[in-house]
Amino acid sequence: MINFVERIVDLLEKEIKDLNRDEINNLIEIPPDYTMGDYAFPGFSLAKIFRKNPALIAQDLANTLEDPCFEKIEAKGAYLNFFVNRELLAKEVIEEVKEKREDFGKVNVGENKPVIVEYSSPNIAKPFHIGHIRSTVIGDSLKRIYDFLGYDTISVNHLGDYGTQFGLMIEAYKNWGDRETVEKNPIQELVKLYVRINEEAKEQPELIDNARNWFMKLENKDEEALELWEWFRDVSLEEFGRVYDMLDVHFDSYRGESYYSDLMPAIVEELKEKDLLVDSQGAKIVDLEEYKLPPAIIIKSDGSTIYLTRDVTAAKYRKDTYDFYKNIYVVGSQQILHFNQLVAILDKMGYDWAYDCVHVPFGMVALEEGTLSTRRGNVLYLEDVLNKSVEKVQDILKAREEERGEALENRDQLAKQVGIGAVKFQELFNQRIKDYIFDWDKTLSFEGETGPYVQYTHARICSLLQRGNFNLEDDINTELLNKKEEIDILRSMYAFTDSVIDAHEKYEPYFITRYIVDLAKIFNKYYNSTTIITDDLELTKARLLLSYGIKNILSKGLELLGIEAPMKM
Ligand code: ARG
Repeated sequence: MINFVERIVDLLEKEIKDLNRDEINNLIEIPPDYTMGDYAFPGFSLAKIFRKNPALIAQDLANTLEDPCFEKIEAKGAYLNFFVNRELLAKEVIEEVKEKREDFGKVNVGENKPVIVEYSSPNIAKPFHIGHIRSTVIGDSLKRIYDFLGYDTISVNHLGDYGTQFGLMIEAYKNWGDRETVEKNPIQELVKLYVRINEEAKEQPELIDNARNWFMKLENKDEEALELWEWFRDVSLEEFGRVYDMLDVHFDSYRGESYYSDLMPAIVEELKEKDLLVDSQGAKIVDLEEYKLPPAIIIKSDGSTIYLTRDVTAAKYRKDTYDFYKNIYVVGSQQILHFNQLVAILDKMGYDWAYDCVHVPFGMVALEEGTLSTRRGNVLYLEDVLNKSVEKVQDILKAREEERGEALENRDQLAKQVGIGAVKFQELFNQRIKDYIFDWDKTLSFEGETGPYVQYTHARICSLLQRGNFNLEDDINTELLNKKEEIDILRSMYAFTDSVIDAHEKYEPYFITRYIVDLAKIFNKYYNSTTIITDDLELTKARLLLSYGIKNILSKGLELLGIEAPMKM
């Protein structure tokens, strides 16, 4: 499709010698409503350069500029407003619909540059709880978005599978554990053991010494310690895997913290050689004062390394292995300081790629009262939330079947697609940094700004196309698409690519979430005000093709959020 913004830059570049293309591009705005044009350029920014008042500058430019892409270039106050040629817009969009089909709007900005997206990263032998869903769902969506834009993505699950707590786990298991019980209900049992040892250690401090001993054994690859640790890891991964399957989330690598234990000594050595390690009360730290950050501990006074040490090692490993263009960490906002320290250390080590490591933080999710009924022990398990969502959708679908007196073909599958999709959609609906409250009614409603609403609109278009015997090969007359609603739709379709580009630049899938809800709304308005399958064959063909284009964008948008788009609902 023609890039209209670029056309504007071409035009202005010739007139404004003092600004380069990027500067001009950054100044172009999208007016709040279309009566002010599709794009606007503010004259204020040129007042200094031309030594003229902004309104006059806008007026002069309006008089000189000319381009068939725009039916009007008009000065309004200090703004220069550009009105895209409607016929051209329709032609461009419809051509893209026909040519690219499911890949409408796809552009290759990534050019196969390698991008690591790290997300989910739960701790083994700990519950996979509702808090993990944010990292998992946001990260998975970012990976899909980067893929779509032509990057070579690598999805990494940086498992929390290392640290002194595994000494405690082993000691607890040796005292009170039972293989069969654990195997039946791994995480729950392991958590129980962990809670118990922390409790009992208050009275029996020797448990802590034993635990420390077990961790040392683990570090020295003692057979028994290693066997138990591997078993904890395996049973945890099996349980996580169940949830990942439900979510349709997959990783290219499960290299977690333990993977880096052997590589750490070399990094510590490198830090020493570069003269970056300072003694502080027995610990070894990196001073980060010049970054206005607190000092970072690399080695604790007891000689053990920590979480941060493993992250420095992992970052270096990833650069060496993948030569990433970006290394993205989708981790909660509680760890902002940790990642600032990580980047600062890498920078201090002299790595020019330090700032290609990007922390993408997000806020907390709270649960409304009453949602807590599925708590097992003291935590809400993600798996239970997903199951509950699917169950609730089952109930909604059953009620609909009764209402309509007609059974759905694949209610079970549909309940999964809608139930899990709804939870993901809710997750991706707001700016990620915002805390939010999870609310069942809002999540599962078939109306309003929800996943089921978008899925339903998609399914509605699918059946419309079937009813109208839609054929992609039909030639259509784009001039027939000239109703106000149709022009709104074309404009909105044209903007799809921008929403994906914004989402990837700002690491915010919610640009896409909002975009597809809006598109669904615009379509439903059209559907209610316009007869699509009419007696006029030419008109019908044009309207069906437009609907087909919308359907493809809705399903692609959902796919980029990791949500399925059923054909029938
Ligand atoms: N396992 C950690 C947790 O659950 C998150 C790991 C984040 N990733 C990283 N590279 N530090 O809090």
